[in-house]
Order: sequence, then structure tokens, then C-alpha cells
Amino acid sequence: MQILEALFIRIFNFVKILLKFFKLNKVIYCFVYSKPFINEFISSLKYDGIENRKKNDKYSLTSLMIKQCHVLEKGLAMPNTRAGFGEVIVVKLFNNLNLFLSKYKIDEMSFMCFNVLKTYCKYNENLGHNIDLITKTLTDLEIKYNITKSGNSDYGYRLINRDYIIKLQNSNFAEFVTSRHSVRNFVAKPVSPEVINEAIKISLAAPSACNRQSWHVHHYNGKTCSDLLKIQNGNRGFGHLISTILVVSSDRRSYSGSNELNLPYVDGGLFAMTLIYSLHYLGLGTCCLNLCLNCNDRKKFIKTANIKKNETLIMMIAVGYMPEKFKITDSRKKVFSDIITHH
Ligand SMILES: Cc1cc2nc3c(=O)[nH]c(=O)nc-3n(C[C@H](O)[C@H](O)[C@H](O)COP(=O)(O)O)c2cc1C
Repeated sequence: MQILEALFIRIFNFVKILLKFFKLNKVIYCFVYSKPFINEFISSLKYDGIENRKKNDKYSLTSLMIKQCHVLEKGLAMPNTRAGFGEVIVVKLFNNLNLFLSKYKIDEMSFMCFNVLKTYCKYNENLGHNIDLITKTLTDLEIKYNITKSGNSDYGYRLINRDYIIKLQNSNFAEFVTSRHSVRNFVAKPVSPEVINEAIKISLAAPSACNRQSWHVHHYNGKTCSDLLKIQNGNRGFGHLISTILVVSSDRRSYSGSNELNLPYVDGGLFAMTLIYSLHYLGLGTCCLNLCLNCNDRKKFIKTANIKKNETLIMMIAVGYMPEKFKITDSRKKVFSDIITHH
């Protein structure tokens, strides 16, 4: 047995030397390393529903509608909403809603889409913008599918008082969590490094895989802040009101290869969420800003932000002081029973 074991070790070492000699070890490593990445890629091709929606299954269609609906919600919640904004999206959302209702029963999310479209019509009517055709088509849909309880003015956007949010800072956990909303309107005053530091100190309590705490926070004001906002693609209509941004990243040097490909995002995401709540606790408004950038923009972003190449970008967070009164998107949440499977 011992002889066999020794023989096996020798063969193994010999193969290792051969691989090293022919510089094949990196090829093998790449093969092993890329397997989970390829699996993820295949899974994305097979199952990502929003762009590749041939099956029109209920879940994918709903996600697409929520995404389109959110564009309208955001437009409605902007500090200066332009009359007639987003007409292309309105048509797309309407068509998808029509398709949805022709196949499935109305539910919480499709009901929200319907009502956001209604709010959109009402908002434009109040501004004197002619959208008669959209209003009529929507009314036809309402009658055809007998949609009841419609027209709730809370759908789409809400007016909120800063004091209401501040009052809930020290409330119980459920109230604290539900009082956080994405804020897209800030007073023109950058947040001081001291306040950012305080929020980060609280957020250090976030959990991370094997306690590696790979996260890093980059803090920007002034010109770099506005340059970065120009590259980011989700701040149209309110970017000019943002004077402080944070970029959360994870340092890849904390991780070890193929089975941990997604961990920088998991750890970084958990940290980012904790940071958002810490900032909320300190009375600041926040809005996550995606960093889903194409390769060129990513390069430009990393260079402008002066972030090291070994860091994975997680997200950007706009931070600021809230005005006394401002609009937020309603961003209605799914019903809990839709997201739980008790096995
Ligand atoms: C990863 C991530 C990226 C986001 N990116 C943007 C963005 O680019 N622009 C924006 O206005 N909101 C962005 N948001 C905010 C969402 O739109 C918002 O969280 C959602 O509508 C729910 O609303 P709530 O935060 O008020 O609950 C992002 C949120 C997350 C989690």
C-alpha cells in the first residue's frame, strides 16, 4: 500500500513538472477556473428572462413590466418632471400589460403597472399635455379586463416629508427598514467625511464569507463626483443634485478562484446594504446607482475614480441631505407569498 502511495505521489509530481515545463499548468488552471464562469454564462443565456423573452412566461414578463414601470415611476418622482416624458416606454409597457392580461389573471404587480400608467395620464393631463390616445386605450383595457380599485393616487410616486423619515430613525427594526426609500432629490451640500466615516464604522459589522471583509469604499465630492455621474447610466434628471457619491468595491485578492467567483458581489452587496441602512440611520438620503457598465465605460470609470484593477465594482451610492419635502417612487413591493417556498 505504501509503495503504491509513493508511486502515485511520484507520478503526480512528475505530471506537475511536465505541465510546468510545457507551460500547461496555466492552461489547466484556466480550464478549471472558467468552468463556473461558463456555467454562469450558459445559465444566463438559457434563463435570463428580460431580454430573451421568447417564452413570455409570467415571471419574465412581469419582471420586464416592473422594469418599464419603474422608468415611469422615476420620471414621475423627478424634481422637475417633463410633460410627456417616456412616451416610448408607455407604449411598450401598455403592450406588455395587454399581453399579460390576455394570458394571465391580474395580480399585484400587473395592477401596479396599470395604475402607474393611470397616474402617468393624470399627471400629464394636469400639466395640460395631450395624451388622450393613451388615456383612451387604458380605459378600454380597464373595461375589457374589468380592472377594479384603480386610480389610487399613491401608485407611481409619493410626496414625503423629511421629518417623517427622520422620526423613524430610532424606531423598531421593521419601521426603520420600511422607512428607507431611494432618494433622488438632495440639498446642495456635500456630506462631510466625518459623517461618511461614522456610517462606515457602523457598517463594519456586516457579515462576510470567512470574515474576509474584502470591501472598500471610495468617497467623492466635486468634479470627480460629477465626472463619474456622467459615466453612470441611471441618474438622468437628478444627477445634477448629487454632490456626494460612494463607490463600494470588493478586493479580489481576498478570494480563491473558481468556486468563489460570485463572492465579491455577495460580500460587497451585503456591505453596501448595511452602509445604506447606516446612512439612513444617520438621517441621510441614499440612492443606489448601478455599475452595469460596458467595457469602455468601465475602463473610463475605473480611471476617473482612480480605483485599483484588483477591485470589483459593486455599486455606487448617491448620498445627501434630504430637502424638507420631496417626491419618491412608490416602488411597490411583491407580495411575500410570491417569494417564499417553504420546503
Ligand atoms: C443594484 C442597484 C442598482 C440601482 N441602480 C439605480 C440607478 O442606476 N438609478 C436609480 O435611480 N436607482 C437605482 N437603484 C434604485 C432602485 O431603483 C430602487 O431601489 C428600487 O426601485 C426600489 O425602490 P426603493 O429603494 O425606494 O425601495 C438601484 C438599486 C439597486 C439595488
